[in-house]
Amino acid sequence: MSVSKTLCQLTTIPDGGAATVHVESSTGGFELILTRQGGHVAAFHNECPHAGRRLDWAPGQFLIENGLLVCAAHGATFRVESGQCAGGPCRGVGLRAVPVEVIDGEVRLP
Ligand code: FES
Repeated sequence: MSVSKTLCQLTTIPDGGAATVHVESSTGGFELILTRQGGHVAAFHNECPHAGRRLDWAPGQFLIENGLLVCAAHGATFRVESGQCAGGPCRGVGLRAVPVEVIDGEVRLP
């Protein structure tokens, strides 16, 4: 059974920026990166495909340049809207995306 789960309010994610949320699960949970472009939000696991590190340079703090999310560890770049690898040591492997939806100003897992 799957239940819609609210992750955060849309307005807590800076427009054009990103934030993190922790999702509880029976196996201890995981952390998601939420990127926002206006009213659209995309979500990815906060784990870089290069060496498995977090992408933020401090908890919840991301470097985003020209629509690209830059991994703080070794500089791999990913498109904020799709998580697709755009350059650097990710070598064509993108971030693992998770479907989310924005309803009534809330970001939710469907
Ligand atoms: S772990 Fe992200 S670029 Fe190396």
